[in-house]
Amino acid sequence: MTDRAVGIDAIEIWTGKCKLDLAETFAPEKGDDPEKYTKGLGLRASSFPDTYEDIVTMAANAAKSLLDREGLAPTDVGRIDVATESAFDNSKPVSTYVAGCLEQVYEGDFRHANKGERKFACVSGTQSVDDAYNWIRAGRNRGRAALVIATDTALYARGDPGEATQGAGAVAMLVDEDPSIVSLSTDQGIGSMDETDFLKPQQQFPSVDGKRSVKVYLARMREALEDYESVSGRVGVEDFRFAPFHTPFPGMVRKAAVLAYRHVTRGTELEEALAPEIGRQPREDAFDDREAFETAMRDYVDALSETSRYREWYEATIEPTIDIGRQVGNWYTGSVHLARASALLSALRNDEDLVGEELLVGSYGSGAQAEIHSETVREGWREGVAAIDLQERLGARYDLSFDEYERIHDTHNHDVESDVEPFTQPANEFVHAGWGRMNERQYEYVE
Ligand code: CAA
Repeated sequence: MTDRAVGIDAIEIWTGKCKLDLAETFAPEKGDDPEKYTKGLGLRASSFPDTYEDIVTMAANAAKSLLDREGLAPTDVGRIDVATESAFDNSKPVSTYVAGCLEQVYEGDFRHANKGERKFACVSGTQSVDDAYNWIRAGRNRGRAALVIATDTALYARGDPGEATQGAGAVAMLVDEDPSIVSLSTDQGIGSMDETDFLKPQQQFPSVDGKRSVKVYLARMREALEDYESVSGRVGVEDFRFAPFHTPFPGMVRKAAVLAYRHVTRGTELEEALAPEIGRQPREDAFDDREAFETAMRDYVDALSETSRYREWYEATIEPTIDIGRQVGNWYTGSVHLARASALLSALRNDEDLVGEELLVGSYGSGAQAEIHSETVREGWREGVAAIDLQERLGARYDLSFDEYERIHDTHNHDVESDVEPFTQPANEFVHAGWGRMNERQYEYVE
């Protein structure tokens, strides 16, 4: 057992090397108003993997950047956990492929590292961080760190409404004692129910009930917040500097944020301060029926979202978390971890002093489960976050035409035979190089 702080010591992010501009390229082909994407969903572009990229290359490339930067050898890592909902193998975990890639370029191996793969839709990235946290707290790590990687190619079938929210990328995190970036709270809230909103029963692209998935996200997040409050005490609006949430698209977070704000201000001085402008929150016992109460609550939430007090809180606490998400779309398991990085990068740009500040982190996975915990920003956050090499990679993405997007989608569709030339030139990275005798994927490092 250790009593020392445990959390995220280093982060690296790898984006798919192509991008689809939703307003300029996707909307005109769909006959849609570009503002449906930029304002409604809140997205500018999606990241896509080039022909030689997949969940393994993105994960291994993020991990290699992180290990190189931290000066770590394979023997410093006691655990490799990969979270994904885009796995291509029902038995052999993606973490073994990632370890195999890394062993091509490092001295030594990961022979004594415990490897696994976590599945619960997008929340499994956070569950993997949780597993690493528990392993270290239990004292089973023998001084070694855990490498946790959330990697996904979030593709939908062509024509599915979810096509607008696609994305591809990996977030690698080193979880360790006395972490440089954030330590994790032991307090944790869960909201979990058997739901049929988004699933992939032995199929590559998801079956999605989009409208229902939005409702389920909100319901489970609310339960997780209430569960978190039951152990940590009531959450206040000013308690957290940022609130990174799972971001399938920024418009989803916009819906969740105002409901969370309403929940935490109920019965507080803030509710009273807002009352002259928008009234007090409706109480169910003041209504004859549930429908009337729900209508009054919807009206209250709409009015709340327009108040300057709420707008200022949203701009400061939420907007910085969705900055990167707007540019890359949904990264499923990596999404909430990208939201955390997005907020910290924005604080770095603004030269903020964040040491000791708290983050409220809300993860979500369809099917469905939400998890909420808090994190405390650590002394070394500034150096740790400044080292994340993302802006350049985002800027260097190849801008796909619609025709090229269709070809890239086919390339990554397991049911389509396609032979498409890459759009970018790989350099200093792992690539998918072919198939082995047992139909396993093979990878090589390209200088
Ligand atoms: N100007 C401004 N806004 C516009 C607009 C315009 N011209 N046209 C439309 N909009 C708005 C709409 O009003 C809507 O906003 P509100 O929901 O606030 O009303 C928004 O843009 C989207 O428009 P639609 O609802 O018409 O879009 P859609 O029906 O084509 O699809 C979706 C939306 C259901 C979310 C779809 O993208 C989808 O199925 N996505 C995949 C599922 C998903 O991401 N669910 C999220 C919760 S589940 C989860 O989080 C797990 C996960 O990662 C998948």
